[in-house]
Amino acid sequence: MRDLLPPAVAVAVAGPDDWSGRLHAAEAACLGDRAVESRRRDFTAGRMCARRAMAALGLPPAAVPAAADRSPVWPAGLVGTITHTRGYCAAAVARSDEIRAVGMDAEQHRELSAGVRRLICLPEEDEQVAQLPPGIHWPAVIFSAKETVYKVWHPVVGNWLDFHDALVRLDPDAGTFTARISPARVAEAPVDHPPTLISGRFAVDTDLVRTAATLTPR
Ligand SMILES: CC(C)(COP(=O)(O)OP(=O)(O)OC[C@H]1O[C@@H](n2cnc3c(N)ncnc32)[C@H](O)[C@@H]1OP(=O)(O)O)[C@@H](O)C(=O)NCCC(=O)NCCS
Repeated sequence: MRDLLPPAVAVAVAGPDDWSGRLHAAEAACLGDRAVESRRRDFTAGRMCARRAMAALGLPPAAVPAAADRSPVWPAGLVGTITHTRGYCAAAVARSDEIRAVGMDAEQHRELSAGVRRLICLPEEDEQVAQLPPGIHWPAVIFSAKETVYKVWHPVVGNWLDFHDALVRLDPDAGTFTARISPARVAEAPVDHPPTLISGRFAVDTDLVRTAATLTPR
């Protein structure tokens, strides 16, 4: 993810053999006693990566509990994001006076079923996919970009955003994307200056799609 984010954002990544560690009590309380082992491992790996990213910023390794909606609660003065998929986990952290919001997502690089694709992609996005070079599952890239967009949008605005509420445009040569948020969602956002356009970067490795985006402070 380092390649997808600006230098002001600290990034830590965990591979398949690097998923253990001790949670803070506040984090363990959010996870609860009934979490299955795979969920416990994902949650723990995310917190370990978050603390490594904080250390890279020269900050102490603080707890990152989860809110009731499962969004991470970052220490005051920080923004951050976590993603995990099979065998891969990453966290990114930045100072909120330098970065307004950061989002990041990793997904398996594979074909989406027709039903999932309909839920994710707008007709304009399907039209664009038809013109993109072969060899990449572009709907999976759009899916990941939209999850990244949600992770940027939600901490700033607090509102839900559906997959059809953002129109993603990919630039395959530059490895960048833009997501235009639907005017209706922008109009009802209960904050000043909600983001209308979220720009980010993507990368497709053999089996992994990665996307990331930031908003800079106004
Ligand atoms: C929240 C969501 C984006 C997470 O994405 P995912 O691919 O399922 O899972 P990832 O592993 O990439 O990310 C999970 C992490 O996201 C973070 N997260 C959860 N809710 C979040 C929120 N509301 N805002 C920001 N981050 C959130 C958490 O840190 C979570 O990990 P943790 O529970 O271990 O702490 C997804 O489950 C979701 O609800 N999507 C629907 C909304 C959406 O994407 N709309 C598209 C708008 S264009």
